[in-house]
Amino acid sequence: MISFVSGAYIVSALLFILALAGLSKHETARRGNAFGMAGMALALVATLLLVVDRLTGDVVGDTTAVWVGLAIVLVAGTVGAVIGIRLARGVEMTGMPELIAMMHSFVGLAAVLVGYNTYIEVADHGAHADAIHNAEVFLGVFIGAVTFTGSIVANLKLSARMSSAPLVLPGRHLLNLAILVASAVLMVWFMLTEGWSGLAPLAVMTVLALVLGFHLVAAIGGGDMPVVVSMLNSYSGWAAAAAGFMLGNDLLIITGALVGSSGAILSYIMCRAMNRSFVSVIAGGFGSDGGSAVGAADRDYGEHREIQAGEVAELLAGASSVVITPGYGMAVAQAQYPVAEMTRRLREKGVTVRFGIHPVAGRLPGHMNVLLAEAKVPYDIVLEMDEINDDLADTDVVLVIGANDTVNPAALEEPGSPIAGMPVLEVWKARDVVVFKRSMATGYAGVQNPLFFKENTQMLFGDAKDKVNEIVAALG
Ligand code: TAP
Repeated sequence: MISFVSGAYIVSALLFILALAGLSKHETARRGNAFGMAGMALALVATLLLVVDRLTGDVVGDTTAVWVGLAIVLVAGTVGAVIGIRLARGVEMTGMPELIAMMHSFVGLAAVLVGYNTYIEVADHGAHADAIHNAEVFLGVFIGAVTFTGSIVANLKLSARMSSAPLVLPGRHLLNLAILVASAVLMVWFMLTEGWSGLAPLAVMTVLALVLGFHLVAAIGGGDMPVVVSMLNSYSGWAAAAAGFMLGNDLLIITGALVGSSGAILSYIMCRAMNRSFVSVIAGGFGSDGGSAVGAADRDYGEHREIQAGEVAELLAGASSVVITPGYGMAVAQAQYPVAEMTRRLREKGVTVRFGIHPVAGRLPGHMNVLLAEAKVPYDIVLEMDEINDDLADTDVVLVIGANDTVNPAALEEPGSPIAGMPVLEVWKARDVVVFKRSMATGYAGVQNPLFFKENTQMLFGDAKDKVNEIVAALG
């Protein structure tokens, strides 16, 4: 049985690696997901067999205990699956990041519970735990507790149930450092204890780690949340790997390491895209040291100009090159279908249409790419920010559809702005810019956008889906 389970675990691990490889490109993303699902199904079956094997081994002859144990696993699994399916089916694409953040909190909580369970099992049997085992328990509970509260705060911030403004406590970096030092001291104490006497340092560290997780994420402000989500993704992977060490489960170690490292790589890529330092993300609160959003809002940028859908249709029909830069508002309005239709009609008229995607447009990595793929926009006209930025100066018309922070020139022109230094789509370099939004309100980072007041920019107010539909109708 054990050798079958080991074999199944190796196959699952390979399937997870193939899943990650597949998910790295649009064209292979579906296949990647299928590999991931197959790997997880195989892992679940193998683990259930392992449970049966362990139970039969532990309580030779007591079949009732085996059935009770199995029933508990199956009932818990079914309840979890029902809740998971309901949540996943009901969630809007725009609510995905907060759902992901909540899932990360479960991984963190699971690591804490596994840590305590492992500790209690050893202490209860009066057995002597070796140093490596103790270190696994302590680190697993620490990472799990930080992930747990950090992810809850991320969920509350992303769902606007908690203010997205950074929590700025006096001496906050010192506070984080003090918690880390205290946890290291508690770890030494824990490692030197035997039996139940380790419970005190473990419990004190858990409380400190819960506070640290809360504080790290609470100190991070609005525009920097995407990096936090992927960073917590990474933490949840390390928490799972720690749980794998405690349980002696190789597949959990491999899967946790895959999630942990891919989350860390994604965080690094996003930090680079937003021109933030990776180390300061891990230290927490890096987003709040910038300038003040109030200062930018107070500045007088002049008047904005309005345009109507019919005029935009004329502008587009007369253009030879058009670039569309979508953002969160396109997702809210579900405007991707009429946008795809508008693209098709313009291309039929011989207009070159391309899309420029900012790495953090929307509310989760790849958000815009998924929406455009769903609406069947051809992949080859969907370009990354770096691929399109140099071409914008030679573009006739840029349509900014529900994007704001990602096209804000203040990031380059105003060193005091909270988004200063973040690379943006330089849409203002095009001949004409049309911005689709419902009002003059600010975007996610809460900063005013000087683009709206530029001479070559015109505002098309209203719901993005309605307005694009009007343009499609006018294009005929
Ligand atoms: P935002 O800066 O949030 O701007 C979206 C704009 O869409 C708003 O200005 C809003 O203006 C408009 N809008 C909303 N609903 C609309 C509708 N139905 N029709 C037309 N317009 C609508 O979006 P962005 O440019 O995509 O930038 C993303 C921001 O989110 C960045 O600050 C980024 O850091 C942050 N963020 C990103 C992620 C990831 S990983 N991508 C995760 C979390 C946060 P009105 O209200 O006036 O309509």
